[in-house]
Amino acid sequence: MSDQGKVGVPLLEAVDLHKTYRMGSVDVPVLQGSSMKLDPGEWVAVLGASGSGKSTLLHLLGGLDTPDPKGGEVMYKGRTISTLTRGARNRYRNREVGLVFQFYHLLPELNVLENTLLPGLVGSGIRADRDRARELLSTFGLDHRLTHRPRELSGGERQRVAIARALLNKPEVLLADEPTGNLDEDTGSEILELLKKEHQAGLSIVMVTHDRAIAELADRVVVLHHGRVDQDQSLSIQ
Ligand SMILES: Nc1ncnc2c1ncn2[C@@H]1O[C@H](COP(=O)(O)OP(=O)(O)OP(=O)(O)O)[C@@H](O)[C@H]1O
Ligand SMILES: [Mg+2]
Repeated sequence: MSDQGKVGVPLLEAVDLHKTYRMGSVDVPVLQGSSMKLDPGEWVAVLGASGSGKSTLLHLLGGLDTPDPKGGEVMYKGRTISTLTRGARNRYRNREVGLVFQFYHLLPELNVLENTLLPGLVGSGIRADRDRARELLSTFGLDHRLTHRPRELSGGERQRVAIARALLNKPEVLLADEPTGNLDEDTGSEILELLKKEHQAGLSIVMVTHDRAIAELADRVVVLHHGRVDQDQSLSIQ
């Protein structure tokens, strides 16, 4: 996959996504024609009520799950993710996007440095990965925590490790699912400050939240509602 985005082509795009979960014999339609795009360098917030399908949408964007058959496409730099070979898809998940979750998803038996290095183990250049991991952890104020395990860290520190891990491979897009959802307001603000800095340095972000105040930090807000995405919501008139 080329590193160069094509002029005028969105970096990441959801095109008419449909996603249905099957619960026993019942079909639960969650996404019913959701479309959105992220331009290079943009920060888009996805707002929506609990259960509206925000995490589902983010998982599809990150290639962690697939849409229904004939249920639309996720396009990265103009290419369809679902038709990539397995190897190319793994590379997409591992190198082009970084994922951050509400509950950190750190491995308890690994220390901070090892957790940060996880996406590097399947890549090459281990020495370079270690340097990069140390640099990120230092930027995020965690130099003194490298050999600590997640259980010894505060929630904010854990999320900083998770963000460092997501950024290890220098992805173009960070997909963050309620990254401050489990943190108190001050700690959450620190995490958002950190994301703001990365955004200013060029990182494109899709951030899921159900908090309007947090969504306002983004360049643009879209709202997931009844399985569809309402584009370009102006928060001030709602
Ligand atoms: N793996 C699954 N199997 C069955 N149903 C699922 C699955 N994942 C999600 N759902 C259902 O799909 C709907 C949307 O879930 P999703 O997690 O995407 O919502 P959300 O907007 O992220 O909610 P929240 O704000 O609570 O995180 C919910 O009704 C949920 O129960
Ligand atoms: Mg969710």
